[in-house]
Amino acid sequence: MAQPQSSLLPASHQILFLAIVALLLAVARSEYDGPLCVSENKVFHVRVDLYSGELGYYAFEECGLENVNPTVAMEIGETYTFIQKHRSNYFHPIGFAYSPYGDEELKKEVTPSTSEGNPACIGNLTCAAPMYYLNDEYLGHYSNNPTLLQNVTVNISDNGLDVYEPLFFRSPAEWTSMGTFSMKMRFDDADIKKDMFIFCHIHEWMAGRIKFTKNGTVLNELDVPTLGFEFDYNTPLLSDFDKECGTFGLGDYQIPGHPHCPDQFVCDKDDPAIDPKMAQFGSCIDAMNCHMLVGMTTGIKAQDERALFVHQMIPHHQNAVNMAKALLKRDKLQCEDLTDQETPDCVLEGILYEIVNTQNLQIQAMYDYLDAMRMPEVDNCDVKLETVADDTQQQRQQPAQGSNARGLGYYYDYGNTVVVVLAASMVWMLLQR
Ligand SMILES: *[C@@H]1O[C@H](CO)[C@@H](O)[C@H](O)[C@H]1NC(C)=O
Ligand SMILES: *[C@@H]1O[C@H](CO)[C@@H](O)[C@H](O)[C@H]1NC(C)=O
Ligand SMILES: *[C@@H]1O[C@H](CO)[C@@H](O)[C@H](O)[C@H]1NC(C)=O
Ligand SMILES: *[C@@H]1O[C@H](CO)[C@@H](O)[C@H](O)[C@H]1NC(C)=O
Repeated sequence: MAQPQSSLLPASHQILFLAIVALLLAVARSEYDGPLCVSENKVFHVRVDLYSGELGYYAFEECGLENVNPTVAMEIGETYTFIQKHRSNYFHPIGFAYSPYGDEELKKEVTPSTSEGNPACIGNLTCAAPMYYLNDEYLGHYSNNPTLLQNVTVNISDNGLDVYEPLFFRSPAEWTSMGTFSMKMRFDDADIKKDMFIFCHIHEWMAGRIKFTKNGTVLNELDVPTLGFEFDYNTPLLSDFDKECGTFGLGDYQIPGHPHCPDQFVCDKDDPAIDPKMAQFGSCIDAMNCHMLVGMTTGIKAQDERALFVHQMIPHHQNAVNMAKALLKRDKLQCEDLTDQETPDCVLEGILYEIVNTQNLQIQAMYDYLDAMRMPEVDNCDVKLETVADDTQQQRQQPAQGSNARGLGYYYDYGNTVVVVLAASMVWMLLQR
């Protein structure tokens, strides 16, 4: 009796048939179907969206500022210009890397001597690399691009970055006064089998994917290398509350209602005479102070003064960053030109940009320190919130005096000032050791 046949073809042919179908399907859908940020005139006006995560992400005017960290298309052999004029670029010199990691060693920065395609360029420094400009003047000597620098160079590595990057550490007013910073790049290695990443030379984890195209068709459809981490805006740490405030990581620290925080740091929010938008800003400040208060109760597991300093200072810095971002987000400051130091709001806006960027950088450096010293990344402890006697109302009216003003009642009245003073004394104490 014949075996019942499940198909007209023998098994080996079935497999072959399926393989051919799969191949045809693969060819049929070989177009990369993700959204791509394309600039027709090959110019990208760069912004940094500080609110889309703890450190912010790049966005481009050409692709809509609501599309934070878009996947950018770059045509092989074409020259692109990335203009970093907008003030949000302060402290964010742009670069390219073959790896998405912010980690220094793994970054695989795109330089005249790095390649993920044809390696022949590595020995004589002729690989495609960014070229850095200030006010349309090239700051380096390397070139792979005869349209930019008449003679393509051999064995020259200086692409201007050593001048470009340090200028981003000047004050916001100075940096602005220098003019227009930009970077140009012609990627000419069609053998590239991977994506490239936009990164920030100063802040980590800002990896924006670049897909290369040849005559408009994406070369590598797969998102390789894979990212290996989550962008902040895809995590619950960027809560709806944060989006409203312009902050990061505060969703779980709203008060009243947090077991380790007082009911408020900013008083009178319920007063009907207070503008609801002002009250809402007060709630943002409340949550960031609660976040800091909870963060600044830590253990001493490492039995090391340096670890205690860092564990306490990180939440303190995070608070400063959140406060500054929240105020920037309000669009309250009236500053046309950051270099105008006669306008008080320009001075304050400069301070805000400095706080956000330098303190974020220091937070990163402090985490790196813990890592390098093999100290625990966090060492939190929960401190029970004592119920303070019902005289806070009274204390607020008559400033607490001297040694009477200890404990949490102190926080109610002086909140951030106290912690700033505490932090400053911690720095002092540590330096004395
Ligand atoms: C760089 O070196 C490679 C490999 O030796 C060679 O093929 C290429 O022509 C060199 N480029 C220049 C501009 O000399
Ligand atoms: C570039 O440097 C390499 C390695 O030092 C050397 O072999 C090569 O001759 C140099 N090429 C030119 C054009 O100077
Ligand atoms: C380019 O190279 C040629 C020949 O080596 C030389 O004569 C010319 O001066 C160079 N041009 C520039 C702008 O350096
Ligand atoms: C590029 O694409 C256009 C239109 O799709 C086509 O006419 C042209 O031949 C292509 N060029 C190359 C070099 O493939």
